[in-house]
Amino acid sequence: MSHLLVTNLHKQFAGKPPTTAIDQLSFEIEEGEFVVLLGPSGCGKTTTLRCLAGLEKADAGTITLGGRTWFDSARRVALPPEKRNIGMVFQSYALWPHMTVRRNIGYPLRARRKKGQDAARWVEEAAALVGCQNLLDRYPAQLSGGQQQRVSLARSLVSRPDLILFDEPLSNLDAKLREDVRAQLHELHRRLRFTAVFVTHDQSEALALAERVAVMREGRFEQIGTPHEVFEHPATEYVADFIGLSVRLEATRTDGITRLAGVAADGRLPAPVRHGEFVLRARPDDLRIGPTAPALPTMTTVPVSIVDKVFGGRTIDVYVRLGEQRVHARIPVDDTYGWVRGLRAGDEVVLGFRPENVRAYASDGAAIVPDEALSPLGS
Ligand SMILES: Nc1ncnc2c1ncn2[C@@H]1O[C@H](COP(=O)(O)OP(=O)(O)OP(=O)(O)O)[C@@H](O)[C@H]1O
Ligand SMILES: [Mg+2]
Repeated sequence: MSHLLVTNLHKQFAGKPPTTAIDQLSFEIEEGEFVVLLGPSGCGKTTTLRCLAGLEKADAGTITLGGRTWFDSARRVALPPEKRNIGMVFQSYALWPHMTVRRNIGYPLRARRKKGQDAARWVEEAAALVGCQNLLDRYPAQLSGGQQQRVSLARSLVSRPDLILFDEPLSNLDAKLREDVRAQLHELHRRLRFTAVFVTHDQSEALALAERVAVMREGRFEQIGTPHEVFEHPATEYVADFIGLSVRLEATRTDGITRLAGVAADGRLPAPVRHGEFVLRARPDDLRIGPTAPALPTMTTVPVSIVDKVFGGRTIDVYVRLGEQRVHARIPVDDTYGWVRGLRAGDEVVLGFRPENVRAYASDGAAIVPDEALSPLGS
């Protein structure tokens, strides 16, 4: 059993002023579950992993795995890393340069004093899992970056750990290789069902790998949910921004008229906002432009002018001015492409979005949850 339970974990680093890296964090991970910690630099991702691994000692809280206490500040229990059966994969591959791939992969077994035929077989099995069986007698310097990362993956799997911790393991790989190794890791987890905590600041990596995503902010979880939940219903504006709703429109509603960045809009709203100030968040890919409002039926529209456009293959990035604000829309290259291509800076057009594709947030950042029915702007 490797059900992970963390309660009230707290870690502060000394300094002037001191830094609270982990702030009263509690969470549970089911056996076999793949959880991704997603958040910006400095939000406490690595510190959380290091506390789980026993490389860092938290100030307070408990960590238990499968009912076995790894850490309990009140009872002064703190198992050293080698007594916690974990695998670790880092951003830097951290392979020993003077050891062959075989010896590198086998290192955790030697550290746990597991030797002999079984150990040799486990090394070969782990290498085969990541497609490195032909590289066993090479040295790390004789491998590509992707191969080195697969060797470090094999090393993390070799001792059949209860928990595997990944700290941005793919971020040193180039874009193509990153997707390959990510797909292999996904497939490996589907087959082996190890329990995993995976740290990244890349939202697409988080959505692709996670069964649950925890979005971190200043040592806390701002939201934890399935990739679908977090992607479709970011609980706060912070999560929305982090998960790709990068377009921010300040909105006001007075006397039945809604203004976006100060410009009167026409159509429906995604949330029951009757009065006052709020914020709309949208993905550039959900925005469209058209010559007039009727050209964008079922959309909420607002007049804008063209600033610039950039060709991107299957999409075209169009930058428009809305009031004083610059807004980025990513338009698919389809049958409207001819019209879009002909646009010039300064042309007056209309920006539109489907109300169900945008999210509304109150001034404190909390989501304004939609009614059953969408509220019409004009009533
Ligand atoms: N050994 C340390 N001494 C002092 N402060 C530290 C130490 N380690 C981390 N911190 C601070 O704790 C906070 C969390 O750091 P952490 O490394 O966990 O962030 P992270 O989310 O992994 O960031 P990144 O994405 O940049 O790797 C940061 O403010 C960092 O400066
Ligand atoms: Mg880090």
